[in-house]
Amino acid sequence: MPPIRRVRQHVNPLSSKYANPAEVPDWSEVFANSRLPLHLDIGCGKGDFVREMAARLPAWNFLGLEIREPLVDRALIRRDQALQKNLHFVFCNANNSLRPLLADWPGGCPLQCVSIQFPDPWFKKRHQKRRVVQPELVDVLAEQMPSGGMVWLQSDIEEVCAEMCDRFDENSAFVREGASWLSESPFPAQTDRERVTQEKGLPVYRAKYIRDR
Ligand SMILES: C[S@@+](CC[C@H](N)C(=O)[O-])C[C@H]1O[C@@H](n2cnc3c(N)ncnc32)[C@H](O)[C@@H]1O
Repeated sequence: MPPIRRVRQHVNPLSSKYANPAEVPDWSEVFANSRLPLHLDIGCGKGDFVREMAARLPAWNFLGLEIREPLVDRALIRRDQALQKNLHFVFCNANNSLRPLLADWPGGCPLQCVSIQFPDPWFKKRHQKRRVVQPELVDVLAEQMPSGGMVWLQSDIEEVCAEMCDRFDENSAFVREGASWLSESPFPAQTDRERVTQEKGLPVYRAKYIRDR
């Protein structure tokens, strides 16, 4: 393990430190088979969710994006120790890195599933522009996802999940499944925050969108 580096609780994605997009790796070197369907987890934190998903679903590739670099460093070490060839993490600001990361995927981007789970809430009105789900991010997903692709949103804060839904509702490429919150996650793994919330008996607000046309 690398020396323990302080992991900040929150970082401001609009700070100049995160203004440059991530370098795009060679996807055919990162994944054993870069043509497998891709599941993207935006704001993956420590990466436990995608790590478990990658172990359970070897016919998919999993990519976690995270803005706190020490978490990505550790997640990559654990990935290498477990010899997981269908799992990768990129330290980046998803808001400026998503488009370049997906744009030149060899043979076209195989993005089939996206999850955005328990994003930082940024409660103060003046901080809400720091929230990760912005119209431009939804536009990139609409460009890169094929018809039938799925976007999964969840949060323990109803207003935060409702706002994510507003951004997807505004984009005509996405259609919501049902009008009310869904009770179950479709995935065989939980995120850290999901587990803690459920252990406390608190509600989780969940919504699913399908890339329509
Ligand atoms: C509250 S945590 C939730 C982590 C994990 N998804 C879970 O459910 O346990 C939100 C994560 O999103 C990351 N994040 C926030 N803004 C981001 C951005 N613009 N790009 C990439 N990651 C971001 C944060 O650093 C943090 O790790």
